[in-house]
Amino acid sequence: MKSFMLQGAKILATGSAVPDSSLNNYQISRIVKTSDEWISTRTGIKERRILTGDNKSVVDLAVLASRKALNKASLHPSEINLIILATSSPNDLFGSASRVQSKIGAINAVAFDLTAACSGFVLGIVTATQFLQNCKYRNILLIGADVLSKWIDWSDRSTCILFGDAAGAIVIQSCSIEDNSVLDFQLDTDGDYANYLSILYQQELNPHPELNLYQGSFKYVYMNGKEVYKFAVSQVPLSILKCLNSLNIKVNDIDWLLLHQANERILMAVAEKLSINSNKIIANLNKYGNTSAASIPLALDEALQQGKISNNDIIVIAGFGAGLTWGTVVVQWKSS
Ligand code: UT7
Repeated sequence: MKSFMLQGAKILATGSAVPDSSLNNYQISRIVKTSDEWISTRTGIKERRILTGDNKSVVDLAVLASRKALNKASLHPSEINLIILATSSPNDLFGSASRVQSKIGAINAVAFDLTAACSGFVLGIVTATQFLQNCKYRNILLIGADVLSKWIDWSDRSTCILFGDAAGAIVIQSCSIEDNSVLDFQLDTDGDYANYLSILYQQELNPHPELNLYQGSFKYVYMNGKEVYKFAVSQVPLSILKCLNSLNIKVNDIDWLLLHQANERILMAVAEKLSINSNKIIANLNKYGNTSAASIPLALDEALQQGKISNNDIIVIAGFGAGLTWGTVVVQWKSS
């Protein structure tokens, strides 16, 4: 990838936001037949945050996370050229990124949504990087945000225990090639298995049968958990290895493994398959559950706040989920 690069891309700052309202496993066990013991041992999740309140949407969380990232980067919103909102739960099917643009006052930014479920943030980094490395834009705000609580069937114990709401944002800026921190990526899609994980549109009404006009609505999250689990544990290590090989980086050189926070057992299994010590895993899903496109930037922001990540650390980031889509980005962290 380096040979096509005109300049580098560097993550300047991160920010995140979660709703105040939390829902723990005991509370969930009062609405579906489950237990703290089952959820903890099968997923590692103890609690999650849920967006409540009238008219609150993914935009509110995205705006909060964005403002924090912009403040840390000491950038005025007007300096942002592009906003990418990775989300699968917009409050407007035409897209929610422009609402974020308006609310934060990023008057010079183009804004669009990117829909790739739990792989959305990884695809977002890759997309943003293209605009920076080919010199088109200088400052990009990338947000991963989801409020899947609004798309959950709260009587389905196989899914309602998993998800939480959150947003994470990064400001990513063009820089010299020597300072480039997005080293390479590997992306994959296999639509043959799209039915394993979906929020499907379902046709319902035909108000004018003579004209063949149909109306419908979106259903709830459906997941074949077992199959998605097998897919993640088999494909994610391969994706990471392909990316590392293309960069000539050895597994031993990895400082941090930052995977989409779907299930603690998946994080451990992927690390084990790659012979990565479990103390290199970044994980916070015990507190937030699976926050879809937000999970990676939320965990990255927390790890940075805890002072875990140092200059030049190699962070392997991998996302996986509906589509099916999956992908890896290798980042060399550059402290500002
Ligand atoms: O973000 C996108 C990517 N998502 C993922 O990567 C998720 C991948 N999948 C998973 O993490 C796991 O498959 C789950 C956590 C969703 C489920 O764990 P599992 O170990 O695969 O459980 P299972 O679906 O095989 O179910 C085992 C048993 C079943 O009962 P029987 O048939 O053995 O009697 C389920 O009915 O557990 C039952 N079960 C539950 N029991 C108590 C399913 N959900 C629950 C529950 N509480 N919440």
